[in-house]
Amino acid sequence: MAPKHQAPRGTRDLLPDDLGRWQWAESQARGVLARYGYGEVRTPMFEDYELFARTSGEASDVVQKEMYRFKDLGDRDLALRPENTAGVCRAYLEHGLGGRGRIHKLWYMGPMFRYGRPQKGRYRQFHQIGAEIIGTPAPGADVEMIALFVDLFEAWGFADLTVAINSVGTPASRRAYGDVLRAWLAPARERLSADSQARLDVNPLRVLDTKSEGDLAILHGGELGPLPHMIDHLDADSLVHWDAVRAGLEAADIRYEVDHGLVRGLDYYTRTAFEVHDRTLGAQSALGGGGRYDGLIEALGGPPTPGVGFSIGMDRAMLVLEQRGAGGAGPAGGVYVVAMDATRAAATRLARELRHEFAVELDVEARGFGAQMKAAGKSGARVALILGEDEWNRGEVGLKDLAGGGQRTVARAGLEQALREILASPAAAVARPTE
Ligand code: HAM
Repeated sequence: MAPKHQAPRGTRDLLPDDLGRWQWAESQARGVLARYGYGEVRTPMFEDYELFARTSGEASDVVQKEMYRFKDLGDRDLALRPENTAGVCRAYLEHGLGGRGRIHKLWYMGPMFRYGRPQKGRYRQFHQIGAEIIGTPAPGADVEMIALFVDLFEAWGFADLTVAINSVGTPASRRAYGDVLRAWLAPARERLSADSQARLDVNPLRVLDTKSEGDLAILHGGELGPLPHMIDHLDADSLVHWDAVRAGLEAADIRYEVDHGLVRGLDYYTRTAFEVHDRTLGAQSALGGGGRYDGLIEALGGPPTPGVGFSIGMDRAMLVLEQRGAGGAGPAGGVYVVAMDATRAAATRLARELRHEFAVELDVEARGFGAQMKAAGKSGARVALILGEDEWNRGEVGLKDLAGGGQRTVARAGLEQALREILASPAAAVARPTE
């Protein structure tokens, strides 16, 4: 019989087999973030709809097509967060963090929600790890962000990553470049996809982000001459910033390439924008991205406060690790307690005591010895701790090293030490004959 319910389209359940890898990656990330001196923030998974409309941009796909917008029973206009930079900046203002120190380094991890067409690497509920530095316009902050971005990937075993960077200037220089782009594309306008024609009117830079083959041929095929670059239309201050960021990346030995076509899908970006892609993922290849957002906090009613940050799409990063069979320590080899009818109660007590230090499993079904030994073998445990009635009455227990086959008897008083030795030893090297 088919089950009556399935997880909603575009969402998925992560089961223990998947979560080994996720938890490993999350703990690696926590370590890197702590060593960079970032503090965690947790903000609500839904916010006022207006917060996202105002920051991501009314014309962005995220707001136009992908928002989980709803009214609650109090008739409030809310939305599940499609991203978390807006939420973090809202919290920054709400708690007056600006008055408690000039620069704040924050990170977050959690689910985000976008109503896109589900496909490999694209989900309606997905997970991000992100970081933000709020309070400084210095190019050094952009460099630190990109270094942190790369170091997180490296902690997960991604080597040879190249970050793509661009500058999207200020709103004014972007408008000027938009006019240049619109004029450059004018002769081919009618042949552009409907999507790009619409974007050309509202936000011409977004045309550069087209996936349409026809559009790409027009943009890069040469018929209109070389594509004008945003970098060549930057205002003077943004150009100085751009040069300083590149010099900083070089000084820090961070590999990057300039991607003149890199425009981000959210409207709040100013100056630096960056992304990293993994082409093995197909269409949804962006593993993460970010950039500077110097006008965002002001747009939320705060004082002018610059910021820069990024988010990594965990689902995609974990897909790549899974494809490579990398990441994620399996269950730590622990102890499986095997009891007889007469020692069952003692086994429950002993297991609880041992769990102060060791990973300990126990048969909850009170099955026979053979079934328990089989379960111990399957569990991934390193040691079967056997509580035979006579031994237990003598103050002893049996230990079977499941990786080496050897079995011995030890006194209860020496049990913890014996377990430590076996668990710390390489497989098959510990087994000593029964004493
Ligand atoms: P974003 O580029 O929209 O930026 O998202 C960052 C990453 O989230 C993407 O590169 C991708 O890996 C992942 N992602 C986005 N949508 C989906 C989806 N539907 N399914 C799976 N993964 C997805 C931001 O969200 C900005 N808040 C980044 C930022 C922080 N900028 C400044 N600070």
